[in-house]
Amino acid sequence: MTRTRRISKAQQGIHKNLECVVKKHLNSTHQKPVAEHTQQAFDKIKPLVDEALAAGRPLIFDSGCGTAMSTRILAEQNPHGLILGIDRSASRLEKEYNRQLPQNAHLIRAECADFWHLASRQGWKLSAHKILYPNPYPKSKHLKRRWHGHPAFSDMLALGGEIELRTNWKVYADEFCAAINLANKRTLRCQGVEIFIPQKPLTLFEKKYHDAGQPLWRVFSK
Ligand SMILES: C[S@@+](CC[C@H](N)C(=O)[O-])C[C@H]1O[C@@H](n2cnc3c(N)ncnc32)[C@H](O)[C@@H]1O
Repeated sequence: MTRTRRISKAQQGIHKNLECVVKKHLNSTHQKPVAEHTQQAFDKIKPLVDEALAAGRPLIFDSGCGTAMSTRILAEQNPHGLILGIDRSASRLEKEYNRQLPQNAHLIRAECADFWHLASRQGWKLSAHKILYPNPYPKSKHLKRRWHGHPAFSDMLALGGEIELRTNWKVYADEFCAAINLANKRTLRCQGVEIFIPQKPLTLFEKKYHDAGQPLWRVFSK
């Protein structure tokens, strides 16, 4: 069994301030200026996305894609779709830049929060949104760094689509599911949190955690 870090000494259970933080962010508007490199990346990909949406092709985001193993798989599974793998880390993305990606997949170096904001302001609608093994930020004081405690959560929800989050930390999954239902969107409900065993890993982190014998959790919303 591989040695890999388990989430320990972490916050236990759903954060007591979750509802307050989520509702505050859902009732306020995005303030932070968009990072220049993210604006440029958005402007570059926009014509392709506009064309795909106009043609009725499914648009799928793989947010925080890391080395983009999942982006590649999603593109192969959805040959008619346009798949954007988004990550802020150039070094992680570069591992795939040198390999040929399927034609319908594109890697974007960007801050997800800014990219989601630009995309939702543009009115883009996703068919699916994968958020696979986001950084957990397990200390209680870091709730606002988790996606559901982040101001960008409202932009994520505005983008819509079937949202799937995977994590090795159940608290993250429970909070994410609860936050989606707190938002009380007519078109988006969390279907629940389930433990699962990957038949074939979708990402490198999934493989690492599974090989280490850790339980994996999945949240599915539509
Ligand atoms: C734990 S890794 C998981 C990577 C991949 N999804 C996997 O499962 O192998 C989290 C990834 O999210 C990216 N990330 C974290 N915060 C981000 C942000 N604000 N904007 C874009 N990428 C971010 C990191 O660079 C990292 O590649």
